[in-house]
Amino acid sequence: MANPEPQFGGAPVPRHVAIIMDGNRRWARGRNLPRLEGHRRGAEAVRNTVRAAAEMGIEYLTLFAFSSENWSRPQQEVRDLMGLLRLYLRRELAELHANGVRVRIIGERDELDPDICGLIERAEETTRNNGRVTLIIALNYGGQAEIARAARELAQRVARGELKVEDIDEAAVWSCLYAPDVPEPELLIRTSGEQRLSNFMLWQTAYTEFVFDDVLWPDFDRAALERAVATYCGRERRFGGQVG
Ligand code: IPE
Ligand code: IPE
Ligand code: MG
Repeated sequence: MANPEPQFGGAPVPRHVAIIMDGNRRWARGRNLPRLEGHRRGAEAVRNTVRAAAEMGIEYLTLFAFSSENWSRPQQEVRDLMGLLRLYLRRELAELHANGVRVRIIGERDELDPDICGLIERAEETTRNNGRVTLIIALNYGGQAEIARAARELAQRVARGELKVEDIDEAAVWSCLYAPDVPEPELLIRTSGEQRLSNFMLWQTAYTEFVFDDVLWPDFDRAALERAVATYCGRERRFGGQVG
């Protein structure tokens, strides 16, 4: 078991870190390599990051792997990304399981190929009792779609007579998210120098600390994760309640 209160430089590490893994294609372009090579190296960075996060005592790691908007990329690139995902889910499952990683997927599954859905279910099922670290992969994920889905679910509960309109509060919305039991991320990292959310975890990041790093995702490593956590540890979180 991980230390119950892991520290980093004397401060508690964030329980939940979310990462917008960006910059694969720029990494490849800068080396005159095909796009696919950038995505392939990006998948390797995922492996190293999961290991580093577990060693640092981070409990939840959410990785933005494919957005609901990424379908608009060239067909071949979408196929390549789905191929890499298949490979990752097949090849890494045994090691993730052996290392005590619980795998969960958030996003709209209906639009994914059935074989990918099968791999997802197998990964979730195999690792469901693991407790060292939870790896949440956001796949065909959009923050607005997640909130709209929650609204539909709440409306259905009201229609069925299970919920009163006046009882719809923040907790009720939380309960309809893809992973309702997962706490909000304390730290969100985006690589590649871009400074936007791109429709990622809009509800959950209300008070999250954002750290932007110029490193392109394939070059992200343990040192980069530690750098972001150190920056987070130096921040003062106020939650709107700071006494003036
Ligand atoms: C992140 O890298 C991977 C995905 C979004 C799937 P990009 O493919 O967005 O690479 P850049 O940002 O264009 O360099
Ligand atoms: C966000 O990156 C999505 C993922 C990292 C999966 P994008 O590269 O798709 O975002 P934009 O288009 O730069 O906003
Ligand atoms: Mg990008």
